[in-house]
Amino acid sequence: MNKHFTVSIFAVLLLVGMNGLAEETTRKNGGESIMDKKISLGAEISLLTPVWVIGSYDKANKPNMMTAAWVGICCSQPPCVTVSLRKATYTYHNIMAKKAFTVNIPSRNYIKATDYFGMVSGKDVDKLAATGLTPVKGDHVDAPYIKEFPVAVECKLVNTLELGLHTMFIGEIIDVKADKALGDNKEALLNMLIFNPKQRNYYGLGENLGRAFSIGKEIGSKSQPEK
Ligand SMILES: Cc1cc2nc3c(=O)[nH]c(=O)nc-3n(C[C@H](O)[C@H](O)[C@H](O)COP(=O)(O)O)c2cc1C
Repeated sequence: MNKHFTVSIFAVLLLVGMNGLAEETTRKNGGESIMDKKISLGAEISLLTPVWVIGSYDKANKPNMMTAAWVGICCSQPPCVTVSLRKATYTYHNIMAKKAFTVNIPSRNYIKATDYFGMVSGKDVDKLAATGLTPVKGDHVDAPYIKEFPVAVECKLVNTLELGLHTMFIGEIIDVKADKALGDNKEALLNMLIFNPKQRNYYGLGENLGRAFSIGKEIGSKSQPEK
């Protein structure tokens, strides 16, 4: 047996062995190969969020709007939302004083105004005058909403929670107003904006992928989920 032949045999045996090891690992991981395993992104925020515009009055009743992405629905009964704001914002102090705010849902037509509301402060500028958008006094709470945006939600402040840099405001939904033009075509809400905080990009929503509380029945449906 010459030296080259011995080395070749050794290399083939090594490859077969590595393949066997990979198969063994794949079996242990329930069919998932090492290459498919997750990597840690650390504790950074890399989740997509909706983009809302929060309406409030200052002490002199000047209407103000600010963009917020640390937001969400947090209770069904009573219906509540959360928005998390820094104390440095004008809106923080407005909401603390008036105990009310609105959530205005921008469509993609209002992407420029939405971004602007998130870049300058109502302390320095009349943002509504600058954008030419129309503030309307809420019917139920002491906060303004934007006439031109497709959806506005009137909220009464019911609680706050200090989290760190942000204070979470919990608002009970008192009324949701939607453009008459939306009619039954609530699909128009698919025009809403989504924010990618890591990339700092806005996105639109994509296609309807399936019905909630329904498509999962293909796997099983033991109990009725509570919303
Ligand atoms: C897309 C986007 C999302 C934002 N989300 C938040 C947020 O969730 N909380 C916050 O405190 N500031 C957020 N900001 C920054 C505020 O909107 C910004 O500081 C604004 O100038 C505050 O306005 P105000 O001082 O008139 O209240 C965001 C800005 C942008 C552009």
